[in-house]
Amino acid sequence: MVDDLKKFHAIMDITRRPAITFVRGEGDWLFDACGNRYLDFIQGWAVNSLGHAPEVLVSAVSRQVAKLVNCSPAYFNESALALADQLVANSCFDRVFFCNSGAEANEGAIKLARKWGTRHRDGAYEIITFDHGFHGRTLATMSASGKPNWQELFEPKVPGFYKVPLNDLGAVQAARTPKTVAVMLEPIQGEAGVLPADDAFLRELRAYTRKENLLLIVDEIQTGMGRTGRLFAHEYADIEPDIMTLGKGMGGGVPLAALLCREEIACFEYGDQGGTFNGNSLMTAAGLAVLEEVMKPGFLDQVNTQGSYLRQELEKMATRHDSGPVRGRGLLLAMDLKKPVGAEVVEKALERHLLLNSPRLHTLRFMPALNVTRAAIDQMVDTLSAILAELL
Ligand SMILES: Cc1ncc(COP(=O)(O)O)c(C=O)c1O
Repeated sequence: MVDDLKKFHAIMDITRRPAITFVRGEGDWLFDACGNRYLDFIQGWAVNSLGHAPEVLVSAVSRQVAKLVNCSPAYFNESALALADQLVANSCFDRVFFCNSGAEANEGAIKLARKWGTRHRDGAYEIITFDHGFHGRTLATMSASGKPNWQELFEPKVPGFYKVPLNDLGAVQAARTPKTVAVMLEPIQGEAGVLPADDAFLRELRAYTRKENLLLIVDEIQTGMGRTGRLFAHEYADIEPDIMTLGKGMGGGVPLAALLCREEIACFEYGDQGGTFNGNSLMTAAGLAVLEEVMKPGFLDQVNTQGSYLRQELEKMATRHDSGPVRGRGLLLAMDLKKPVGAEVVEKALERHLLLNSPRLHTLRFMPALNVTRAAIDQMVDTLSAILAELL
C-alpha cells in the first residue's frame, strides 16, 4: 500500500484523489489499470462532451496531428479559421480569440472589457459579478469569482470586482458606479451547485446594461456547446450578450477555450493579447469535430430528451429519498440532499464504480456525456438510489 501511494508522489498534491490510475475510456465508461470499469457521470467535469474516445474526435485529431500541430499564433491555420467561422455563424458574435482554458478565456474577457472601458468609457474598469459565481483559478478570475471560501485566499486580490446576489437587478444597480464597465455572469452557476440565472433576470440585465452602456459578459464555459440543450444557454433568454467565453466541452476533452465578442467590442491592439498555444491546429481541429457533431440535426434534441429523462428519474428518486429539488437544464443537472452527505455519496459511488460529483455538501451534480445512453442513466440511477437508501 505504501509503495502504491509512493507512485503518486511526483504529482503535486492539490486535491484529494483516490488511488486509482485510469488508462482508457470508451463512451460512458472509464477503465483503470486493473481492468475495472467505471460509469462516468463527471466526464472530465463536463468536458468530454461526446464521451470517451468518440470516433469523430479520434479521427479528426489523428488526421490533424499527422498534418500540422502548431504553426504559431503568428500565422493563420486552416482548422482555427474553420472553427471561428462556424462559431460566428452559429452565434450572435463576430470575432473569436482561441485559448487553452476557461480561466484564460475569462481573463481575456476581463482584459477586453477593461480595454473597451479605456477606449470608450473614460477608463471605467470595474466589473460586477455574482455571489457564488465561478470564473477560474487565475488571480483575476479568482477575484471575479464569488466562492465564499476564496475570500481570504491569495490576498491581495485583483481589484475592481463587486459581487451581488444572483437574480437581483436592484443589487446590480446599487453596485454600479461611474467606473463600472461590465457585468459578468454564468447563465447557470455550475460550481455553485447548478444555480440558474432566471431568463427574466437575464433579459432585465441585458436591457439595463444596454441602457447604461455597460458590457454584458456571459461565461458559458460550463453551459455552452450544447450542455443545456441549446448551443448556448443564454439563447433560452433570447438575449445577445456583448462578450461570451467558452471552454470545457468545446474541445471534447482537449484543452480548448475561446473568447467571443461583437465587432464593435473587439478593441485589442497588437500585443494586448496572445499566447503560445492559442488556436493551434490540433486543438481547433478537435473543436471543429465537436461543433460539427453538436450541430448535426437532432443532436441537441437528443440532449434535451436524455436531459428530461435524467431529470424525471432524479425527481422520482428525490421523492423516494425525501431529497431534492432537482435543478438545471439539458444535461447539466443537480439534486439537493436533505443532509450534508455529498462527499459520502461520491465515495460510496466510487466503491460501486460510479463516478459522481458533489460541488457542495448538500448537492450532487450530473454532467454525463451529451450522447449518454438511456442504459447508462438507468444504471447510474439504480446505483445512486441504493446508496441514498443506505445513507438517508
Ligand atoms: C463557469 C466556469 N468558468 C470558468 C471555469 C474555469 O475553466 P478552466 O478550469 O478550464 O480554467 C469553469 C470551470 O469549472 C467554469 O465552470
